Amino acid sequence: MSSGAAATAAARLDLERVRAEFPALRQEVHGRPLVYLDNAATTQKPRAVIDAVRGFYERDCANVHRGVHVLSQRATVAFEQARTAVKAHLGAADSREIVFTRGATEAVNLVAASFVRPRLGHGDEVLVSHMEHHSNIVPWQLLCAERGATLKVIPIDDRGDIILEEYERLLSERTKIVGVVHISNALGTVNPIAEMVAAAHARGVPVLVDGAQAVPHAAVDVRALGCDFYVFSGHKVYGPSGIGALYGRREHLLEMVPYQGGGDMILSVSFAGTTYQEPPHRFEAGTPNIEGAIGLAAALRFLQGLGLEAVAAHEAELLADATAAVLEIPGVRLIGNARRRAAVLSFVMDGIHPHDIGTILDTEGVAVRAGHHCAQPVMARYGVSATVRASFGAYNTAAEIEALVRGLHRVREVMG
Ligand code: ALA
Repeated sequence: MSSGAAATAAARLDLERVRAEFPALRQEVHGRPLVYLDNAATTQKPRAVIDAVRGFYERDCANVHRGVHVLSQRATVAFEQARTAVKAHLGAADSREIVFTRGATEAVNLVAASFVRPRLGHGDEVLVSHMEHHSNIVPWQLLCAERGATLKVIPIDDRGDIILEEYERLLSERTKIVGVVHISNALGTVNPIAEMVAAAHARGVPVLVDGAQAVPHAAVDVRALGCDFYVFSGHKVYGPSGIGALYGRREHLLEMVPYQGGGDMILSVSFAGTTYQEPPHRFEAGTPNIEGAIGLAAALRFLQGLGLEAVAAHEAELLADATAAVLEIPGVRLIGNARRRAAVLSFVMDGIHPHDIGTILDTEGVAVRAGHHCAQPVMARYGVSATVRASFGAYNTAAEIEALVRGLHRVREVMG
């Protein structure tokens, strides 16, 4: 076990109590206690989230922004309070800087369509890092193809760190946006976002940060980071699926054209012309995922209740212990060993396909992800098509790391 400040802070998480909040953790898989280490794909949900969503269905179910009746007013208040909760969690200045989306993916697509498209011309460039999730690559490829622009890639080194000198060299007056992940879902790299934002802003280039893997693991302060846009998904932060949020600086959102048209995003509609709501409602056409937003707010409250510092310290300890133990297994190679890593351990084993490893671990009750993690370019960078990924959450324990390691020894026995 590691010691010092991290361990002291970690001691403040009462794991038994934390785990008691997650009904799904109390089950067996293939006759073994579930060891859930696929948190980067999605997290389990605490009772507070389940109760918040059920409470909406049982008491307050109505549409928002549309009704004069009591249930609609309650639903509207709860939905807008959820927006305030997201604003507070991200350290944004104003709730009107928070747009609810289906998740991080939709938020990136929104920025691509509404902010970047009108600014992107023939010969312009979009800059993303080599470790991006497909959701922060493909929307830009689509847009670049449409506008005759070029997608440029910030290289990473063998450890999985962005090469900052190369990044600075790639920034130019042609760059119309930088898209970069805060914490990589495939490598666990924690990127130096504030530094990267400062370098981009020095050249007048806005920055979008994909925070899908950061919000569950660390305190995020969008104003300290200085970014223009920040996106994340609810389901990776102990909240429901199908909900997420975009933070966008108010001055940007005010300039942006609507992303989709429909109900609730308009001021008035006639066949002669339509006028739009102010942001954020301008970007939320149609009935939103009301219960999702309410559940997301409950998840953020739950996480704050645990304490972001305690969660980060606890997960750092799990990661350090898991890394050391896994490296003792013959034939294991880490994929990604960046200077700063969080919550993700990605590796391969000589001569054994990750899918076989994942399948054998499953028979031991250990859930990991085996695959390309929706990040094929970074897999290619390391010359692999897939990895095994164990990813940690606030409820994971040292005993679960031991179960993972026992399972990997079993894989060696079975597969040779
Ligand atoms: N993006 C998710 C993952 O990393 C699904 O597994």
